[in-house]
Amino acid sequence: MKRGSKRSGVAAALALLAVFAGGAQAAEEGEALFTQHCAVCHQPGGTGAPGLAPALAALLGKRVSAPGGREYLPRVLLGGLSGAIVAGGEKFNGIMLPFPQLNDAQLAALSHYLLGTLNKDTLAADFAPLTAADFAAWRGKPASAAENRKLRTQLDAAGQ
Ligand code: HEC
Repeated sequence: MKRGSKRSGVAAALALLAVFAGGAQAAEEGEALFTQHCAVCHQPGGTGAPGLAPALAALLGKRVSAPGGREYLPRVLLGGLSGAIVAGGEKFNGIMLPFPQLNDAQLAALSHYLLGTLNKDTLAADFAPLTAADFAAWRGKPASAAENRKLRTQLDAAGQ
């Protein structure tokens, strides 16, 4: 009995480790994808470039944690974003093109890095990581870049 519970404790610890390892692996893959596809505008580490692209580090957590915010990254990455925005006190009025060339699993890995690493201090503690299914839901019917900017405004108002 004692041995059995010890063994199941070990099994539980191993299962937990596997979950963490999976998350770490996704974040690592996400960082590589970010370097390849996003850093040219958003800069390494998502620090942003005035006049070119907004910072993503520390600025997304609160927005995606607001009610309805779970849709924000899937919508922007599959439908784009355009129009005047303010991010971290900087004004932008550009166009973010969507990335349908990345598959759902790649977009989920990218979001692990964006949210779990770059926004870990501003993300709600109970925010469940985005999965491939969250992206698959928007792939067939992406919202327009203008609609996504409207959502951004609503989320920022809700996240105050
Ligand atoms: C060619 C430059 C460019 C590239 C490459 C690019 N973005 Fe963007 N991104 C922008 C611009 C410009 C905006 C702001 C659009 C606006 O002004 O409305 C933006 C906005 C965003 C936003 C919304 C930020 C906010 O403040 O709400 C997210 C999230 C985002 N990008 C993620 C990514 C990710 C992830 C990648 C890589 C897969 C990427 N971007 C690649 C230019 C780029």
